[in-house]
Formats: sequence, structure tokens, C-alpha cells
Amino acid sequence: SEPISLYDKIGGAEKVRQLVEAFYPRVQAHPLLKPLFPEDIEPVMEKQYLFLTQFLGGPPLYTEKRGHPMLRARHLPFPITPARANAWLQCMEQALNEVGITGPERDAIWGRLVIAAHHMVNQPEPFS
Ligand code: HEM
Repeated sequence: SEPISLYDKIGGAEKVRQLVEAFYPRVQAHPLLKPLFPEDIEPVMEKQYLFLTQFLGGPPLYTEKRGHPMLRARHLPFPITPARANAWLQCMEQALNEVGITGPERDAIWGRLVIAAHHMVNQPEPFS
């Protein structure tokens, strides 16, 4: 039998949906992230729902609808600095708290998101 996925352990589709819904209002309120995202955030939320579902070991919804994720390539049009990666992670940390994802599942998800966020960095910090 298959090992139980992180997706199933945290509560499946409903919990992933809650996480996405807790995350994007924070992104839209963050001064470093807000300028990168469209005003109509619904389509972005849907893509992230598809992606996180598969990232956490649920059904491969993202690949079915949008093909290979290639997330670093898909982020290249956006200037992602280390400070923006940290801002993204800060919003996600608060979203994980809000929806009550705790314990070893939380630690496993967090570790993977930290790696993914740092992988998206494609610009150095601008001089100021
Ligand atoms: C799309 C920003 C990290 C998953 C996007 C978009 C932006 C963005 C601006 C495009 C939104 C649009 O459609 O107009 C960032 C920033 C990050 C980051 C600043 C900081 C490191 C991540 C991470 C993941 C992720 C770590 C996954 C764990 C996605 C997905 C999409 C997306 C799935 C939709 C891709 C598509 O199908 O077009 N992101 N992102 N992002 N991001 Fe990120």
C-alpha cells in the first residue's frame, strides 16, 4: 500500500484550499509582493491550488491542466530578489499558522517551501 501523503495527512483538498485562501490576501497586502501580482488574484489562487495539491503528494492537478510546472522558468518574468523570497515565505508561515497546519507535517511542508522559494530567486538585491 502507498504511504500516506502530506496532502492526505493535512486534510486534502479542503486544507489546501484554505491555505491558498489564507496566503494570497497576505501577498496582496505585502509591499514587496503586491506590485508583482495582478489585481484579479483568483486565477493565481487557482494555479497555486493545483500546484500545491501535487507538490504535497495529492493528485497531479497542475500537470494535468498546465503541463510540467517548470516553476523557476515561469517566474523569470518577475524580478524575485532574496527579500521577496523571504516575504513570500513570511506570508506562507502566517497562512500555515492561520489554517492550523502543525507538527511534523508542518515541518516537512515548510522545509520544502523554503527550498522552493530560494530556488525562485532570479535577481540580486537592488542597491539602495
Ligand atoms: C506564479 C511570485 C515563489 C508557485 C507567480 C506569479 C508571481 C509569483 C508574480 C505570477 C502571477 C500571475 O499569474 O500573474 C512569486 C514570488 C515568489 C514565488 C515573488 C518568491 C520566492 C513561489 C513558490 C511556489 C510558487 C515557492 C511554489 C511552492 C507559483 C505557481 C504559480 C506562480 C504555481 C502559477 C504558475 C503558472 O502556472 O503560471 N508567482 N512566487 N511561487 N507561483 Fe510564485
